[in-house]
Amino acid sequence: MEMGILNRLFVDPRIDHWKMSAKNILEAKRKAAKLGGGEAQIEKQHSRGKKTARERIDLLLDPGTFQEMDVFVTHRATGLGMDKSHPLGDGVVTGWGKVDGRLVYVYAQDFTVLGGSLGESHGRKITKVMDLAIQNGAPLIGMNDSGGARIQEGVDSLAAYGEIFYRNTRASGVIPQISVILGPCAGGAVYSPGITDFVFMTEKNAYMFITGPEVVRAVTHEDVDFDTLGSAAVHHSKSGVAHFTAPDEEQLLQQVRWLLSYLPSNNLEQPPVVQTQDDPNRLTVEIEHIVPEEPNRPYDIHDVIDVVFDRETFLEVQPEYAGNLVVGFARLNGAPVGIVANQPAVLAGVLDINASDKGARFIRFCDAYHIPLITLIDTPGFLPGTEQEHNGIIRHGAKMIYAYAEATVPKLALIMRKAYGGAYIVMSSKHLRSDLNFAWPNAEIAVMGPEGAVQIVFRKEIEAAENPEATRLEKTRLYRDELANPYVAASRGYLDDVILPEETRIRLLAGLESLQTKRQSVPQRKHGNIPL
Ligand code: HXC
Repeated sequence: MEMGILNRLFVDPRIDHWKMSAKNILEAKRKAAKLGGGEAQIEKQHSRGKKTARERIDLLLDPGTFQEMDVFVTHRATGLGMDKSHPLGDGVVTGWGKVDGRLVYVYAQDFTVLGGSLGESHGRKITKVMDLAIQNGAPLIGMNDSGGARIQEGVDSLAAYGEIFYRNTRASGVIPQISVILGPCAGGAVYSPGITDFVFMTEKNAYMFITGPEVVRAVTHEDVDFDTLGSAAVHHSKSGVAHFTAPDEEQLLQQVRWLLSYLPSNNLEQPPVVQTQDDPNRLTVEIEHIVPEEPNRPYDIHDVIDVVFDRETFLEVQPEYAGNLVVGFARLNGAPVGIVANQPAVLAGVLDINASDKGARFIRFCDAYHIPLITLIDTPGFLPGTEQEHNGIIRHGAKMIYAYAEATVPKLALIMRKAYGGAYIVMSSKHLRSDLNFAWPNAEIAVMGPEGAVQIVFRKEIEAAENPEATRLEKTRLYRDELANPYVAASRGYLDDVILPEETRIRLLAGLESLQTKRQSVPQRKHGNIPL
């Protein structure tokens, strides 16, 4: 069936109807809708290494589970030549389906139709699936590939975006919301992904920016190209907007499925436990060879995570951003947990502005969806300096405290080597109501590291000594013995136990299981006011 005939069919449904049976009309319309902007446009999309909206949905969902809605929706704009064509579906494919047998709602913008631009009807289709996702307690996955607000529809396009943003906000903490960016995502359109829980971007073809290169050039005279302005690489490593990237759409959508496997469908469900092949009683003897005894020697925290948690279950969130703090999901005897861990291999594992933002947001997500938090601590403290102070480390670091203190999910923490100063308090300390706190025997917990402390407290004595270096060493030893060990904290009950590294998996698992029935009530309030 020719596209022209079908367009006429829509504009005046009486034409040709007498020749066609009701079934034929439906089939013809379905076929036309499936073609989106037509074969030439589909070819163009493919030639750029991009899939069509329906191909993407098929890659994401379990085979044969997609149920499409609103196939026959069209725009009702008339200006700027819009009355000449009424593509069925209006540039977005919406509906529901299953991922690993569990219900999800999806929308996928169709770039082959008016560049995937969003007008009134296109927006209504999206808000309809959002409402259903919220009502039925299922995750929402939006696939973005769009020129943004449909210019021809003016304020109706802007209104439609506003309706989406409102729902994104209302759904936050109720259902997981995932944005997958597979093409351009420009203008205020970026704020829907910006509100959602996780943003995925393909390494090629995906862009996010508030204003494109042309506008940047006109306003600020800055010469910049699409890649430098808003590619996946930029948002993954510099801005922190993207949580996951992959070289192609297939791999990216597989990652979405993997992420969903850790999440409950809504805030009233518990996260899904799956059987893993890993022995719950496995001793973590490898740690001895991974973590050097000297507190300042670096190691890769990923190696510890790989050993402690169920093998090959760690899904790292924002791996390229603020690498000094590692966050992500894993399983412990099959149960999903959220890991927050200092990374001694990057900036010695200090806490800074970006790490605090990353950590706080992750903690709050886990808390909203009943995912227990396990914090692995090895940090010299907050990064000092004017750059951090002037950019608001006080405000940003406060987010971590707020997020940990606010979280009511089971909280477990392990001090591996050092926890100094503010970082001791911030990183899931007992004082912020962590449930179970452990330390390894060599852990140092103190206001600051021995070198700095000795210099401040014993400066005069060292300077006056016959052999200042010997005195410094003696005072350092004294400081370590008296203060920088885990037993002072353990004697106060700030640590629940001191454990051997090889016992880590077993003890964390036992603790996690004991906290499964944790209940904690919080005072009634409209909402808190997290520092932003
Ligand atoms: C209507 C649009 C459109 C738009 C693209 N098209 N963007 N139609 N409204 N916003 C149409 C084009 O006219 C073209 O139609 C088809 O989509 C494909 O576009 P091309 O330009 O040929 O594709 P490409 O070269 O790949 O460039 C893609 C693009 C570019 C980078 C997205 O189209 C572009 O810069 N578009 C404008 C982006 C933008 O500034 N949007 C507004 C942002 S402001 P034909 O018929 O020729 O195939 C915004 C406000 C949101 O979104 C506010 C929310 C609060």
